[in-house]
Amino acid sequence: MALVEISNLEKSYRVGETDVPVLKGIDLEIDEGEFVALMGPSGCGKSTLMNILGCLDRPSRGRILLKGQDLGHLSDRDLARIRREEIGFVFQNFNLIGRISNLKNVELPMTLKETAKNLRRDRAMELLESVGLGHRLDYSPSNLSGGERQRVAIARALANDPSIILADEPTGNLDERSTSDIMDIMRELNGEGRTIVMVTHDIETTRCCNRVIWMRDGTIQEDAS
Ligand SMILES: Nc1ncnc2c1ncn2[C@@H]1O[C@H](COP(=O)(O)OP(=O)(O)O)[C@@H](O)[C@H]1O
Ligand SMILES: [Mg+2]
Repeated sequence: MALVEISNLEKSYRVGETDVPVLKGIDLEIDEGEFVALMGPSGCGKSTLMNILGCLDRPSRGRILLKGQDLGHLSDRDLARIRREEIGFVFQNFNLIGRISNLKNVELPMTLKETAKNLRRDRAMELLESVGLGHRLDYSPSNLSGGERQRVAIARALANDPSIILADEPTGNLDERSTSDIMDIMRELNGEGRTIVMVTHDIETTRCCNRVIWMRDGTIQEDAS
């Protein structure tokens, strides 16, 4: 069984009186341990697909299974649980809480899962150390550079040991140097067996991916290993 199984997935958004189709029949399987790059012109539906895969949005039609669970037929509560326990999301604009410490930011997903307090703290410290920020535990994201913020976001994404990391243009706001740092971390995580799907516009960043999927106008145009 593949980690992700998507068949004939469609998504449309209601705009005024009309349904606007955004995903127009996606078929896709992703195996455990893959590092997939998702590319395509702006507006072709990459983020929409990532959001459905990440349980932030729901499909309109078709099927999407994560570890065999049909994401289209779950209650809001179950969907939220899967998002928390199985998904590690990394966003272009980091989505951190600027005024609390990095440590607290990384602890937060574990709070929601009711992990014991001392375990939370130890794990958050370990994760921040693993992304090279062991000396910035008590800083807050607002005092960090973009590259450092994204490293905090990656540590946070790993907090609950997710089944899949979804990174939507994680280097989109970063300079060349920070991009290369972030990609080093991504490559390492994949080397440890983590499954990653990454939206990117930068062909350079796809070098450590084992597969590049090109989308166009709500469909998959090319899928190359
Ligand atoms: N909530 C929404 N309501 C209406 N249209 C949306 C919504 N979200 C995305 N869209 C539209 O869906 C299309 C694909 O968007 P998106 O998935 O963000 O593209 P990409 O990430 O590839 O740039 C765009 O035309 C966008 O305007
Ligand atoms: Mg997008």
